[in-house]
Amino acid sequence: MAHRIAVLSQKGGTGKTTTVRTLADAFRRGGLRVLVIDLDPQGNLSDYFDVPPDATPTIAEVLTGRATAADAIHDGIIPANLQLAEAELALAGKMGRELILRKVLRGADDDVDVVLLDCPPNLGLLTVNALVAATHALIACEAQYFALQGVEQALQVIELATDGLNPDLEFLGAVVTKADLRTVHSREAVVALREAHPGKVFDAVVRHSIAYAESSERGVSILDHRPGLGVDYLDLAGQIAAALGEAPAKRKLGTLAKAARA
Ligand SMILES: Nc1ncnc2c1ncn2[C@@H]1O[C@H](COP(=O)(O)OP(=O)(O)O)[C@@H](O)[C@H]1O
Ligand SMILES: [Mg+2]
Repeated sequence: MAHRIAVLSQKGGTGKTTTVRTLADAFRRGGLRVLVIDLDPQGNLSDYFDVPPDATPTIAEVLTGRATAADAIHDGIIPANLQLAEAELALAGKMGRELILRKVLRGADDDVDVVLLDCPPNLGLLTVNALVAATHALIACEAQYFALQGVEQALQVIELATDGLNPDLEFLGAVVTKADLRTVHSREAVVALREAHPGKVFDAVVRHSIAYAESSERGVSILDHRPGLGVDYLDLAGQIAAALGEAPAKRKLGTLAKAARA
């Protein structure tokens, strides 16, 4: 079965979508077959992957039973658009509403190695569906002091999923994004996070840079746009591959990271 990683946080702007997009790219370069699923009605991930706004079916049709997940895969992504907001409302009134994504994904990812689920900027029903469908959870958080609280809240929702509907869900860890390590505040926030969650904050830290905005504007992966910065995500991907037991991918990503640093 594929490793399914839900990327979540309790708010927007923590780098979830950038993380999903760049990890997908990094894992593919590491030789893994990747499917990404956009679970945010804002559809940012779908934009990144150049899915036309009117492409159908999307995750909304899949969740409401009007299309199969297999039919909704467009070039490695199941996209989302504003219709997902409506679908979420429709789901809210259903029996077993937390289990729907898990059900509709059954069999859809048999021929991929990793599924990355890009959650919306809240800990509501869609995020819970992602956690129930996932094998692993990854929290994205900014290098800010208030991120500590956000991580706590995300962990509580992960615990709810583990205690109830998805006992096998594993917490992979938290990744710190947008870290301006020249500032004391950023550095202290990272230290505080590591102290609060020993062994559960990835060594790889994603540095803050305007290059991320440029890279999305130009539709060029940060791994190509600024390899010296993209190496943060190659490191993260390598550490995740190691945690997943994907040794060949870990080695390949290590080689790529070395080249990017050279
Ligand atoms: N490491 C980074 N440094 C600077 N800006 C970033 C970084 N990662 C993401 N961004 C920018 O921050 C904004 C929010 O990122 P995004 O990945 O969409 O977050 P989320 O999905 O959590 O809302 C985007 O404009 C993105 O380009
Ligand atoms: Mg997003």
